[in-house]
Amino acid sequence: MPTERSLPFPEGFLWGSAVSAHQTEGANDNSDWWEHESAPGTNANAASGIACDSLHRFAEDWKLAAGSGQNAVRFSIEWARIEPAPGEFSIEAFDHYREVIGTARDLGLTTSVTLHHFTNPRWFAARGGWSSSESAEAFSRYAPAAGDALGDLLQIVNTINEPSVVAIVGHLMGYFPPRITEVETTHTVTVNLLRAHAAARDQIRATSGATVGLPLSVSDFVPADGSAEARRARDYMHHWWVSVWVDALRTGRVSGLEVPEETIGGLAGGDDFVGIQYYSCFPVGAGAEGGANARLPASATQMRDVPVSAYRSDRRTQVGWTWYPEGLGNVIDEVSAAGLPIQVTENGIATADDAERIEFTTLHLEQLHAAIARGRDVRGYFHWSLLDNFEWNEGYRPTFGLVAVDRATMERVPKPSLAWYGAVARANAVRRSADVP
Ligand code: FCB
Repeated sequence: MPTERSLPFPEGFLWGSAVSAHQTEGANDNSDWWEHESAPGTNANAASGIACDSLHRFAEDWKLAAGSGQNAVRFSIEWARIEPAPGEFSIEAFDHYREVIGTARDLGLTTSVTLHHFTNPRWFAARGGWSSSESAEAFSRYAPAAGDALGDLLQIVNTINEPSVVAIVGHLMGYFPPRITEVETTHTVTVNLLRAHAAARDQIRATSGATVGLPLSVSDFVPADGSAEARRARDYMHHWWVSVWVDALRTGRVSGLEVPEETIGGLAGGDDFVGIQYYSCFPVGAGAEGGANARLPASATQMRDVPVSAYRSDRRTQVGWTWYPEGLGNVIDEVSAAGLPIQVTENGIATADDAERIEFTTLHLEQLHAAIARGRDVRGYFHWSLLDNFEWNEGYRPTFGLVAVDRATMERVPKPSLAWYGAVARANAVRRSADVP
């Protein structure tokens, strides 16, 4: 029997949606991803091209977000535009981003600005990218320059989006540029990213009143079957993807891998928040479908009992990920070990069926509500994504947006989920899934 009861969120909760520069701006031709998309033998299914042309249409995008009822927006600024050559900063690019941030703020949106969302300037990649011993230093020229130029406008800053994806997908799985498959390099990159993060955090703080955090990609990993081998493989995956980062934020140490422990100066306990980007659970082990996860060598760390049967393998998104809303609660519990306030900086679904998007999001918001109710300090939720956009190697086929983009005309076409999500934001409450007809 439906009831009118809805689930309220804490006062001041941030309700936003997210995009990133390369995925929406277009013509990001000075970046390593642009190069990757057109390289001979590339594994990218499409080139980003003009993306959503948000370079010119950002004001329209922010108006759609604000007009729907959302009170925040997350987007990135593009390092490859800002520092087109080493040590040369573009005043024009900074002026542009002042307008991008200022327009969002004028519309009443709290801005959450990411300094690095997967893409690097070509010159940085050519010098060895994140595996170079000079990478953190290079980022430590960019971050303070951004702080100097934009600091008075910055409110929330995410330093490096999903550093585990940069490290693992780019340097262990070889799926993203630079397409390396080396355990040791992955560890080097992990350490360099954390060094760059810690320095950037302090540099941004020195020039702004912004709160600064690191948005982590955290999936809920489960063993593919009941075997000891699947459990070991799962724990290994979980360690690389989740524990390394959460432990490093807490202790300042990168440890537990098959390489010597490293300490990152100034990292421990210094962030203002930690971001959680949650989409799905992934079965791990020899029996897992899909391969890449299962192929990693297994090395035992600690065990955790996971109810394998709980994940919803019956429902999959356009990118093959399973629905597992309970996983959001699980990862919030795990990441709480970092001892920092949490923002859900990404969560969403690739689907052509917008009613499904509303159902998926309702189920995840219920889990988020439950996590807050059991005492977890979660301060905001950013839906991925505001717009249908360039989904990296998958190109334009997956549609994550609350708003469709006509690829021929660039016209923005709001989906019913935009108004639905805006109403959640205005009410600061979500109707329980059991009450949704
Ligand atoms: C995350 C990325 C984001 C988007 C979503 C679907 O890993 O941060 O850019 O591609 O996945």
